Formats: sequence, structure tokens, C-alpha cells
Amino acid sequence: MKTDLAEARYLAQIDLDRLPRHIAVIMDGNGRWAKKRLLPRIAGHRAGIRAVRQVVEACARLGVAYLTLYAFSVENWKRPHTEIKLLMSLLREYLKKEIPELNKQNIRLGVIGRIHELPKPVLRDLEVALEKTRRNSGMRLTLALNYGGRSELIDAARKLAEQWKHNGNFAIDEDTFSEYLYTRGYPDPDLLIRTSGELRLSNFLLWQVAYAEIWVTDTLWPDFTQKNLFQAIIDFQKRERRYGGLGLG
Ligand code: FPP
Repeated sequence: MKTDLAEARYLAQIDLDRLPRHIAVIMDGNGRWAKKRLLPRIAGHRAGIRAVRQVVEACARLGVAYLTLYAFSVENWKRPHTEIKLLMSLLREYLKKEIPELNKQNIRLGVIGRIHELPKPVLRDLEVALEKTRRNSGMRLTLALNYGGRSELIDAARKLAEQWKHNGNFAIDEDTFSEYLYTRGYPDPDLLIRTSGELRLSNFLLWQVAYAEIWVTDTLWPDFTQKNLFQAIIDFQKRERRYGGLGLG
């Protein structure tokens, strides 16, 4: 991917030693992007994939360790059947096409959500993509699919209760609880990006974003470029993170 002069200027302002380790993104505004152009909504989703490619590649090149993208929520099943079908086929297309690129960039794919409820063909393609990128040791790119923050907490509580029935001899604290989440083993996101100006969490990573810095832009997701990503990281690096303490003074 080419970096133009303006992008290079932004890039130069990033302190590579203080990158967010985990960036999570709520990709919003595909529909509005299409509407503005009098195009069908799916054209917005298709354009959204271009933005996905840009951000994945830029994060991997910078050295971000974890990137988690909200691709399909548990609530998205309420959309018209045709849109869901097209979203699923776009996802399958992405998974198939992208494996060589992910391997070239040493990116390992991950997935979170109630995955078993996805249509069988999607599941199959996902399994192939997960398997084919399993040995990559670079960035972990995680797609949140059929994901809901509350469902995740419920699923974690159920698994924990099950475990407790077998052997209740363990402490239930924040660290133990995190082990039952889909994101087991992941660091919490340091930076949460949301596009298209909405100031909502939309049921995304409710537990994990407890201390994340939130960065919202009016840019619609299909228009989001690596320049926007660099801006978000630069702003993140200017903020003082105190985790409820008083900071270093
Ligand atoms: C929100 O836009 C976006 C989604 C519900 C899906 C995100 C999907 C993609 C970017 C494409 C597929 C992704 C991958 C990883 C293959 P919206 O439709 O809610 O937009 P609106 O709020 O303007 O209507």
C-alpha cells in the first residue's frame, strides 16, 4: 500500500514505542455512504471492505498486536434477509480472497461471537481461514461475528457456572472471569475507534473496553483511510491514561 505525503506526515508523529497494543473498531456508516450516492446498501458494505483492507494492512505494518473489527452483531439479524445474505457472501468472499494477503503480512485470523450459529458455508470458510493463518506470529486480526457483548457475558457466566459445578474450588475475580470470555488471552483494547459519528458502544466488547480510550470520527466507514487511523493513534498517544488513579502528576 502506498503512503502519500500527508499520510507520511501523520505517520511521522506516531511514537512506535507507545502504540496501542489492541485496537477495536466499530465500523459504522456503510449504509449512509451508499445512500449518499444513491447506491444500494450492499455497495456501502463492499466499499467497507476496502477500508478493512487499508486498516488491517496499516495496523500490521505499524506493529499493532491485536485488531478487532465489529463485522456482524447479534442484532444485525434484524436486517432484511437480502442484506444479511449479501453480507454473508461478502464475508465469504473476503475470507477466501484474503488468506494469501494475511499470510504475506504474517497476520493470524481470530473470530469472536456465537460462531456456531452462523450459516454452515460461512463456518466452513471461517475454519479454513483460521487454519491457514494459524501459524502466523504477527498481528492477531479478530472478526466479531454474530457478536454481542451481553451474549458474551452470559456465555461466560454459563461456562463459569458449569465449571463451578465440577470443581467450585476457585476464586472468581476479574482475571478468572476474563478467562471465560471469547477474548481469552487477549489484552483489553487500549483504543476503541467508532466511525460515522455515533456516540454508542452498540453492545461491543462491554467488559473489555472498561478502560479503553474512545475515538469517534464523523467519517463514514467506507471513507476511513490509514490517515484516519494514524490520527486516532496520534490522539490516543496525547491522552493521559489514569485507570481511575491520579496519574504521575
Ligand atoms: C455498519 O454499517 C456496518 C456493518 C453492519 C457491517 C460491517 C461490515 C463490513 C465493513 C463489510 C464486511 C466486513 C468484513 C470484515 C468482511 P451500517 O450498515 O450499519 O451503516 P448505516 O448505519 O449507515 O446504515
